[in-house]
Order: sequence, then structure tokens, then C-alpha cells
Amino acid sequence: MAKHEDQPVPIYSSLKPVYGDGSQLEEANLRFDKIKSKFQEFFSHPPDIFARSPGRVNLIGEHIDYEGYSVLPMAIRQDTIVAIRKRSEDDEKILRIANLNDMKYSMCTYPADPHQELDLKNLKWGHYFICGYKGYYEYAKSKGVDVGEPVGFDILVDGTVPTGSGLSSSAAFVCSSTIAIMAAFGMNFPKKEIAQLTCECERHIGTQSGGMDQAISVMAQTGFAELIDFNPIRATDVKLPRGGSFVIAHSLAESQKAVTAATNYNNRVVECRLAAILLGIKLGMDPKEATSKVKTLSDVEGLCVSFAGNHGSTDPVLAVKEHLKEEPYTATDIEMITNERLQSIFSNSPTSLDVVKAAQHFKLHQRAVHVYSEAKRVHAFKDTVSSNFSEEDMLKKLGDLMNESHYSCSVLYECSCPELEELVKVARDNGALGSRLTGAGWGGCTVSLVRENTVPQFILELKEHFYQLRIDRGLISNNDLGLYVFASKPSSGAAVFKF
Ligand code: GLA
Repeated sequence: MAKHEDQPVPIYSSLKPVYGDGSQLEEANLRFDKIKSKFQEFFSHPPDIFARSPGRVNLIGEHIDYEGYSVLPMAIRQDTIVAIRKRSEDDEKILRIANLNDMKYSMCTYPADPHQELDLKNLKWGHYFICGYKGYYEYAKSKGVDVGEPVGFDILVDGTVPTGSGLSSSAAFVCSSTIAIMAAFGMNFPKKEIAQLTCECERHIGTQSGGMDQAISVMAQTGFAELIDFNPIRATDVKLPRGGSFVIAHSLAESQKAVTAATNYNNRVVECRLAAILLGIKLGMDPKEATSKVKTLSDVEGLCVSFAGNHGSTDPVLAVKEHLKEEPYTATDIEMITNERLQSIFSNSPTSLDVVKAAQHFKLHQRAVHVYSEAKRVHAFKDTVSSNFSEEDMLKKLGDLMNESHYSCSVLYECSCPELEELVKVARDNGALGSRLTGAGWGGCTVSLVRENTVPQFILELKEHFYQLRIDRGLISNNDLGLYVFASKPSSGAAVFKF
């Protein structure tokens, strides 16, 4: 049988394969009925097809996917559904994008031109659909598919992944949009190619994200976390220990990845690239070669490892400690080593130039230590899960790795925030074996490993020690608590529904 990354997105004629049976299926039936009737109300026609793609929680491996390293996320049941209908030939060639929650997200209209530029200074929620729309055309063109003249589409979106939560609402939206367009054209592609194309097209929104979120959203399998490798994209099922459960909790600080890209997310991507270039030069590369060829820390890992080898070690961190100073670098410090202006190194990446403009300094030592050590923790996590440790030892070890990961994100990568720190502490003080921020950080959620039989008690403790104060202050309502803190089992990946 073909590996699951080689298979196309499944097309189902019922909701059962994705939503199972029982209360989840009932809920899904109601939800789809609502989507259908709202579609009819907006567009006076029923949709042809539905696509769904889930959010994810990353268990370990933060901020290393864009450096070429493997990560270990699982899909969650919250997802985005895109209902779509091709407009008829005689209709105006436009994309009308509506949302089930039309109070919050009002209808957006775009031209059908797949080459349109997105106005990033005026970020609208519909832009995420356009990312997928452009992505489909870019991919089809690269494969020599005859796409013909653009046609119009009517679209209705319903997302249950909380936005700004670090649970990849954006990837769920972009992936379901891309797959909806693909299905509306009667096409289907191997999942790994969809994962790649959705990763690339989400960058139209201005963040230089790695491919984790899209890969897990497209390739997830019910009951498994996945070890995701890049270059080429590959997913390996990881069975999690039975006695443990992962509890997701929102810090209630919103993480706005796209809006803060120049100082947060893209800043770290740029810092890693600079760290990699400097390591390359210090370890013998010609500066010109380094600035043109070295893109990621994984590109120079070999050099770091051979440096370590000469000092009786295999750890690339040794080279970082030797060759990158701990004090922050100024642009001039770096340019003295590269013999090239930063503006010129990043001249073909406008979003990187925004970073260079906004940055006071660059913490290259800390970022590189984080990346190399986090990459190792991912493999240690995977090895622990498949080891023959007793369950208790296994859970403890996994918890320790999650705690180490959080420390590294917080202290070395500086992508935490006070609310996340408080929540992680409350979780650990109340029985979590490990707790860490998940996703990009700077707000959003934590993920905690908890013994299965203590989950309800643990959630009560989080309520008492973290949420109650916020409920009293009116930040969230008691009735909504289930949206902000919940245990999650690995759920299934993207699918198309044709009834
Ligand atoms: C975001 C990005 C991912 C990944 C994480 C951090 O979710 O979209 O590609 O880099 O942040 O691990």
C-alpha cells in the first residue's frame, strides 16, 4: 500500500469516517446542516462540495521546522470547513467568501484573478482563502495542468479552531481552502504535495512559516501523533502512551502571528539564517558562498558536528558556544563578518527586510542553541515513546522533555509571554508531568502531559488557579471554559465531502 503521504485526500460521502459516531457525529450533522442552509441563504444555491482540515497541537519541536528539522504534532478535532460552489459561466467572475459567523467576519469579495496581489497592509480574513486559491493555481501551473480561464466561486467558511491560539487556525483555513478549490475543479493530489504547496502559499500572508501546520493538517491519521520530516515531507505515525493525555489550555493572550511577524516570527527566521551564515563562515566557508548558499541551521549542522568531532563530541551546540558570542549582535557586527550588508543578503525577501529594519540587534547564539537542542529533543521524544520503558518512566521522561523544550523556548528563543509562563507553572504545580507553550508562542496555548485518570481534576485545578480570576474579570465566560481548556486525542487529517 502507498504510504499515506503519497495518497490523495480522501473523499467521503458521509461524515462518519471523520467525526465517528456518537455525540461528535450528531454535532457535525447539525453543523453541516447549518452551513448548507446559510450557503443557500447567502448564495441562493446549495454548495457542491465541502473540504475540512483540522488544527493541530505541537507536542514537541518548536520553531525548528523552518530550519529543516523534524517536529511532532497531532491533529485536534477542531477544524475549518469550506463549502464551495463554482459559479456558472455567465455569472460575474468573482470570489464571494462568506463566514458562518457573519457577525464577526463579514463577506469579502475578490476578483477571480489568481495572480492578484494581497494587500497586506489591509489584512482581511478572506486573504487566507486567497492564499489557498493562489496556491492551487501556482501548483497546477507548475505541474502543467491546463487550468483554463479563471471562473468565479461562492464560498462559505466555518472554523472551530480558536484564532490566535497557536493551534493553527490559519493552516486549517488555508488547507481547507486549497483542497476545496482543488476538489471543485475535480482534481486531487498526493497529500505530501498538498502539504508543500499549502505551506508555500500561506506565505502570501507575510509570515515565513515552516511546513509543520499544513503537513499535519493534511496528513494526520486518527489515533496517532506524527513525526513530520521535511525535504522531502514525510509523516511517520507515532503511537502515544495510553496512560497519558494531552491537555490544551489557552493563556488568553492572543498570538497574532501575521500582524507581529516583523518583530516576532519572521525575526526569528532571520536570526536563524544569520546564525547559520556566521557559523558557516567561522567554520571555514567563504563569506560570499555562505551568504548566498546557507539558508538554515541544518545547512551548517554537518560543519558544526565535524567541529564537535574534533573535540570529542557529536553535539553541534559546541560549535555555537565556541563561535557565536552570547551578547546580541548589531547589524554592523554581522556585516563585518559577512562583508555584505544585511539589506543585500535579504534583498529578495521583502518580509526579511522588514525584520532587518525593525531589529535593534540579533541574538544568534541563543537562537542556534535552541534550534539544535530542540531538534534533538524531538528524536528523544519519539525514541522514548517507542522504547520499552515502563509506562510511568515513559510519561516522566516525556514530561521532562516537554519542560526542557519550554525552558528553551522561553529563555533562549524568547517566544513566551507572562500569561504562558503563569499557565505553565499552574499546570506543573497541579500535576502535569510536563507543560509547555505550543505553536509559535507570544500568546496562545500550552500543552500539558497529564495522567489519563487525573484529567478532570487537572482541568478543575486550572480553572481554579488560572481561569477563575479571568472569569471574574469578565475576560471569558464560565460557560465558554470548554473552548479554552480541553483534553485532546489525535484526530484525523484533511478530507473532502461530496454528499
Ligand atoms: C507556527 C508556524 C509553524 C512553526 C510554529 C513554531 O505555527 O506556522 O511552521 O514554525 O509556528 O514551531
